[in-house]
Amino acid sequence: MARLKLGVLISGRGSNLQALIDAAADPAFPAEIALVLSNKADALGLERARKAGIATAIVSHRGFADKPTFEQAMTEALETAGVELVCLAGFMRLLSPWFVEHWHDRLINIHPSLLPAFPGLDTHRRALETGVRFHGCTVHYVRAAMDNGPIIGQAAVPILPGDTEDALADRVLTQEHRLYPLAVKLIAEGRVRVVDERAEITGQPTAPEPVLNPPG
Ligand code: GRF
Repeated sequence: MARLKLGVLISGRGSNLQALIDAAADPAFPAEIALVLSNKADALGLERARKAGIATAIVSHRGFADKPTFEQAMTEALETAGVELVCLAGFMRLLSPWFVEHWHDRLINIHPSLLPAFPGLDTHRRALETGVRFHGCTVHYVRAAMDNGPIIGQAAVPILPGDTEDALADRVLTQEHRLYPLAVKLIAEGRVRVVDERAEITGQPTAPEPVLNPPG
């Protein structure tokens, strides 16, 4: 069966991109990366894509007079590459309602918190300051409001005594690298449906265990 064609949008390090590259290296994975698009020429993620032999494009927001022409150029590059699902992976430009609508239910994002808690930046610091016992990451369909939209999957990590922002960020990132390929797989298998702005997932083989923190 044809694999779902992904376009991955990055601005930097690209560790989530790497997780998708690694997952798609397995021919049984139901999606492949057709294009990695960066708005920054020096994004480390571009190197990762080149190393994996994946097509890259640099569409710099600075090269365009305004956001509509920038987003039009990105859309053209993605469509020329045959992209069917756009994955934001550390893409640091806010997208306009036009772009979000154009790619409606074909555009997903990974965010480093358990949404709807902590949208925006500095999520790990804010989780520590708030004193929540669990933190984590979310993959969701993108809507016009920032870090908003039907939730496809989440991974939770317990916050530990003495945690630092960096230690927590590392622990969450490890889970991001599991969650993003899983969410893409579920979509590519046709198991995710948006109904009344909630993502429904069919065919879940097992139910996860509840977790307490503190454990006892
Ligand atoms: C990740 O923490 C992701 O959740 C957020 O931006 C960061 C990107 O990291 N949206 P990387 O570029 O994938 O390493």
